[in-house]
Amino acid sequence: MIYTKQNFNNKTILITGGAGFIGSNLAFYFQQNFPNSNIIIFDCFRSELIFSNGNPQSFGHYKNLIGFKGKIICGNINNENHLKLLSDFDFDFIFHQAAISDTRVYDQTMVIETNVNSFYSLLKIAKKNNATMVYASSAATYGSLPSPQTVGKESPENPYGFSKLMMDQIAYQYSKENPEMIIVGLRYFNVYGPKEFFKEKTSSMVIQLGHQILSGNAPKLFEGSDKILRDFIYIDDVIQANIKACSSKKNGTYNIGTGTPRSFQDIADILQKELNTNFQTEYFPNPFEGYQIHTQAEISSSIKYLNFNPKITLESGIKSYITEIKLHSETQKI
Ligand SMILES: NC(=O)c1ccc[n+]([C@@H]2O[C@H](COP(=O)([O-])OP(=O)(O)OC[C@H]3O[C@@H](n4cnc5c(N)ncnc54)[C@H](O)[C@@H]3O)[C@@H](O)[C@H]2O)c1
Repeated sequence: MIYTKQNFNNKTILITGGAGFIGSNLAFYFQQNFPNSNIIIFDCFRSELIFSNGNPQSFGHYKNLIGFKGKIICGNINNENHLKLLSDFDFDFIFHQAAISDTRVYDQTMVIETNVNSFYSLLKIAKKNNATMVYASSAATYGSLPSPQTVGKESPENPYGFSKLMMDQIAYQYSKENPEMIIVGLRYFNVYGPKEFFKEKTSSMVIQLGHQILSGNAPKLFEGSDKILRDFIYIDDVIQANIKACSSKKNGTYNIGTGTPRSFQDIADILQKELNTNFQTEYFPNPFEGYQIHTQAEISSSIKYLNFNPKITLESGIKSYITEIKLHSETQKI
């Protein structure tokens, strides 16, 4: 799918976090649609290091990149020596996705160092190369503020959300100081779709519930899940946003959601329909404090300035995704 008139052939494109969920989808998007683009992925991949919450310290996985024909640099965005490896290139576009993406990491030093400090370095590279910078922000910047979540009203409730808000503020300041640059932040809401499997426990509830059902168990949801609504967005619409951000009419931070919240119960019900099962949902108490009960992206400025047009409903997204959910359920190997 070609979303804009921008031709990425013969362009040099850096994707940080390109071994992760969204970054690897972006890499394949360019490879398939612009086969003459020069794609460079910078990612530290996963080591054996884990956080105190039991999750890997980075989720990048080589299996997300099987078939990728571009260049790969294994490096850490916190390490200036690793970043120096990027000085051999002259980038036209930078899609900065690398981050500690796990919202339940509470080591503030680590989250803020990784997500915020590195952003200064990458902005410098963008400036030096005269490259467009599109970076990942997050709906976690809003915390549990009431819907619709609107850019300009934020209240993060974890170090991750705070780090993304700081990135947005840095981007704003950098744009002011460098008005010739294109710098666009995309506040993704709840993204789901192929290549998220390796995010393990931090992957979307779509794949997690899908696997519960496929292993013959009833879907298990928090009590009141029919009233816990989120703005779930399919990966293809997130790719669309990244591409359109490159021809944004205005620098800034933009919400990337559908604008239509749906419940976790809806996810379980759609999955059961797609998988031809009829389990009775089981409910258990929600153990989390500061849990977002209702998110709904306010997307009028994303429509106006990015020409963003989310197209994929929860029903059609899950339908497109179901084959991959089944495939991973059979292998279940990390
Ligand atoms: N998936 C979502 O629902 C969602 C929602 C809001 C924001 N985001 C943001 O979008 C971006 C991509 O998210 P994702 O879902 O693809 O997550 P992901 O964890 O799959 O991808 C992040 C990638 O960054 C890499 N990485 C982590 N630390 C690194 C470091 N120090 N140096 C180099 N590479 C490092 C990881 O190996 C991984 O490949 C992230 O910035 C995330 O915070 C995602």
